[in-house]
Order: sequence, then C-alpha cells, then structure tokens
Amino acid sequence: MTSPSPSQQGLLSRLEPFPPDAILGLMAQLRADPRPDKTDLGVGVYRDASGATPVLRAVKAAEAQLQKEQASKSYLGAEGNQGFTDLIASIAFGDALAADPRMTGVQTPGGTGALRLGAALLHATGTAPNVWVGSPSWPNHASICEDAGLQVCTHAYLDARNADIDFDAFIDGLSQAKRGDVVLLHGCCHNPSGANLDAAQWQALTDFVVVRGLVPFVDLAYQGFGQGLEEDSASMRELLRAVPEALVAYSCNKNFGLYRERVGALWVMADNAVAAGHARSNLLGLARGLWSMPPDHGAAVVRTILEDPTLRGDWLAELSEMRERINSLRVALGSAHPALAAVARQRGMFSILPLPRDVIVGLRASHGIYMADSGRINIAGLRLETITDLIAALTPHLPAQ
Ligand code: LMR
Repeated sequence: MTSPSPSQQGLLSRLEPFPPDAILGLMAQLRADPRPDKTDLGVGVYRDASGATPVLRAVKAAEAQLQKEQASKSYLGAEGNQGFTDLIASIAFGDALAADPRMTGVQTPGGTGALRLGAALLHATGTAPNVWVGSPSWPNHASICEDAGLQVCTHAYLDARNADIDFDAFIDGLSQAKRGDVVLLHGCCHNPSGANLDAAQWQALTDFVVVRGLVPFVDLAYQGFGQGLEEDSASMRELLRAVPEALVAYSCNKNFGLYRERVGALWVMADNAVAAGHARSNLLGLARGLWSMPPDHGAAVVRTILEDPTLRGDWLAELSEMRERINSLRVALGSAHPALAAVARQRGMFSILPLPRDVIVGLRASHGIYMADSGRINIAGLRLETITDLIAALTPHLPAQ
C-alpha cells in the first residue's frame, strides 16, 4: 500500500509525537524499575523518613469533616471557592495587602493553572509583553507562557557551578527587558536550584523593576518549605508594596500535600481598584474558556483547615515538620562532601548536584538513583541512613574542591 499524500492524511495523523516531559518521564521510568532499593530524587513531592508521601493529618480530618457536613456539590462559578482564595491571600500577603482593593484573586487548578490563567490575562492585554524567565527555571514555566501565546526570553540566574545566584549577570540579562515586559520570579524555594535571592538582592531587584517599569509575575509554590510561612513571603510582599502592578500564582499542592487535587490561586494587583475589577472580569471570562470552574475538593479541604483553629494549628505543625526534615537533610548532604557544601545553605525542595549528564543517566542504570537530567534532586527524597551510600556512589564523579 502506498502511504497517503499529506493532503489526503486525516487531521490527527498530521500530529508529530509531543516531546516527553522530563519530570513526568522520569516518574514513569522510576515506576518501571523493579529494584526495591531505588532512590527517587525526581519529582517534587515531600517524602517522610520512610520514603512515603502521606496525606497530612489535618487534610484527613478536614476530609472527614467535609464528608459529614458538606451539603452540596453544586457549581460554584468560574472564581471557584472564594473563601479558600481569601484565606490563602492572608497567608501569602498578610491581612493588609490581602484586603487592598487593587488586589483580586480567583481559585485555579493548581499553581500551573494559576500560571496559565495569568499568562492568558497578559496575552489578553494585547501589548505582547515578553516574559523574562531565569535560566534555569521550572521547565514548565516557558511552556505555559508560550502556550498562551507569549514570547519567552531568558536571563542568567545561577553562577557557573549552579550553587549561588550570579546577581550581576541576572540584572544584566534583565536590562534587555523593555518597559511593560513581565519578569517571572520564584517567590521562595527556587525550583530547580534552591538558590534564593537574599533580602538585599530582593530589594535591589525591586528597585530595578520599579525604575524599568517591569511587571512581576511571582510563582509562590513552596511557601513554608524554606524558612517559614512569613519568612518565605516577606520579600515578595515588599516587592508588591513597591510596584503598581503584579501577578502572583500560588500553589497549595506542596504545603498542604494535596498534589493530585490541584489546588491553587491567582492574584492580580492592578494600579487601581477599577482596573482590578476589569482584570477580574477578564480572569473569570478566560477561566470559563480554559476549565470553566476549578475542582473544589482540595480548595474546600484547605478552607476547612484554615477556618478551624485546631486543624490550622495541626497543619502548621506538619508544615514545620516537613521543613525541618528537609533542612536537616540539607545539612547532612552539604557536610558529606565539600562539592555539595552549597546544598546546606540553599532552601526549598530542590538543589542541583554538580554532575555531568552522562553520569546522571548512568547512576539510574547502575545504582537506581533517579534525578532529573539537569542534576536537580528532590531533597525530601533523601534518607539520613542512606546518605553515606549515596555519597559513595556520587564521589567519583563530583568535582574536586
Ligand atoms: C516538580 O517540579 O517536580 C513539581 O513541580 C512537579 C511538576 O509538576 O513538575
């Protein structure tokens, strides 16, 4: 049989295979590996000392309460669960900023949904802003923005060893941005590097953004995993107080351990209340076309936790526990080899190990150690009792100091 010419081909047979997602591909590869002692340092989910990703106690209790008391599952509307969004706004921004009439927020399907809706809103402005994304960043950042029709430009972020921020190169790269361009920032716990701006760098960046007329789009996906809920959002709040306009994408998937429930929110801060109202109507219209209404269950769980002082207290304790475990693993890994010293001062779920790609791929086959091709590891996937074995496997490949 002769193959059909392109003009005879069906619509769907014209599609080329979509390149696999690096992080999701790694998850599938790991799942297919039968070795019982494999080490999962891949996808960003919290793991406890036994390697499990448990449902938080506060979440279980809230789910039980909802099961008993929730009276209806009727539609809520394109804004989703507004009570949830308002409660999270106080945690992300503090009460004063959360109540600012220039600020408006809606629930979204996860932080990804928040980024996608924010990107759609930026596209809807018709001004074709470029979105400046640091290199490296979460790989999905660029895809989400491009999918919404925005042009992505990259600027430097890390130094050559992927250990610290090269702040001069960062600002130098951003100097190419034009007035009205958007700068995508990690609010805390940089993914993939764990290298975060310090307070002085945030201040310098804030001044730069104000003078250059750039619009910050902050991705706050790990609040509470770095130094604490307040500490992790303090610099972002200062930034928001200084600029006329900004967007903030928020995820509860990590800090409430609700990953697959897809719980997030997007806020827009406009330069006056009227503009905020217009932005909100656009958000609702765009959301209606993207997903109509976000799924409620996870948002209802978060709301139930935050409205109940006992559950809120328990959640805060569990969040501290997760953060402290990650930070103690950072100290253990950072002190185990001089080439890994930066890991101890980085914060959040991830760090990048200084290993070449062929070694990273080889470690999967030889030792069942799974990390992203970039060398990004999920710190929570480490176990104190196996760090020595891990270091033994890594040491021949780590740079001499
Ligand atoms: C990650 O970076 O591993 C997580 O944010 C999960 C994801 O969706 O990529």
